[in-house]
Amino acid sequence: MSNTLQKNLNYKKFIIDERLQYFKPHASKIEKTFAEEISFSLNRKGKFISPKFFYDKKGSDLFEKICTLPEYYPTRTEIMILNKLKDELPSFLDKTFRVVELGSGASVKTRIILDIFSKLCGDVEYFPIDISEILAESSEELLKDYENLHITGIIDTYEGGLEFLKNYDEKKNLILFLGSSFGNFPPKDGHEFLQKINSTMKKGDLFLIGLDLVKDKNILESAYDDSQGITSEFNLNVLSRINDELDADFNLNNFSHHSLYNETDQRIEMYLKSLVDQSVVISKSNLLLNLEKDELIHTEYSHKFRLSQIQKLLDDVGFEIKHTWLDDKSHFSLTLVSKI
Ligand code: AVJ
Repeated sequence: MSNTLQKNLNYKKFIIDERLQYFKPHASKIEKTFAEEISFSLNRKGKFISPKFFYDKKGSDLFEKICTLPEYYPTRTEIMILNKLKDELPSFLDKTFRVVELGSGASVKTRIILDIFSKLCGDVEYFPIDISEILAESSEELLKDYENLHITGIIDTYEGGLEFLKNYDEKKNLILFLGSSFGNFPPKDGHEFLQKINSTMKKGDLFLIGLDLVKDKNILESAYDDSQGITSEFNLNVLSRINDELDADFNLNNFSHHSLYNETDQRIEMYLKSLVDQSVVISKSNLLLNLEKDELIHTEYSHKFRLSQIQKLLDDVGFEIKHTWLDDKSHFSLTLVSKI
């Protein structure tokens, strides 16, 4: 396993106790800073802010709130499907599997899967991959409630975490990518990401992906523009974050939440709309940003899929589809695939 040793040299290992350890890349990794990315993405004609920046503490809390909104059907629908899956997933698994999750959860969803594994394995191994230090918090929560759980957290990007996992050992992995987070990717990037997952997997590994489905436009649009204005708050919060972390002076009253369903491209598009002609200073990005009245800053895509497209997408990457589960209304899907 020289390969594994070699790779682990790039990570620092933190052993917290016998049930919890983390791997964190050495600081040497060259990644663009928040300030640099914002400087690039706002200093151009089609302005955008990457949705990955939504999730500071406040943004993560707001997203949790979104998940419980009456209009936001994806979370509760996926939970319903996962509960249905409880009886059927074990037939695809055996005792040698561990759970790997892209995005770390102490959420209901992760727990449903861990419940299935507890019954199946006794000792359960869970590898959350998340860039955010929230990983530490959610891991502690899970360890309190699952006595036979062992967690190895990988504090890195999804890509980095997957690279870490590659040839890590002989144990089989069930990789989870839930919540239709995949929908954030533009199509080309999405395809590449699935290829990355596929190339990480060993023969026998499994991948479970949750994807939101095309449906009535009104249902979709209200899910991203709720009556309590939480999604609006979530969207605007990224400007507060830039104010706090990059010494900027966005006046949030000069922006509004703007979202629509683009039927052609099958996606929700979220924007921040400038309500006036204005200039904003973003000190740490070295930027004086001029915005016209009604100018849009793009903040998120949330792609929706048809079942035939999901099949094609997974097929093109070289996965074998084992099963797709749906809710009664076919609003959301969970698809289990293996590597051929
Ligand atoms: C976390 C990306 C799956 O696209 O539905 C929710 C984020 N944005 N409401 C989604 C989100 C606005 C969410 N994902």
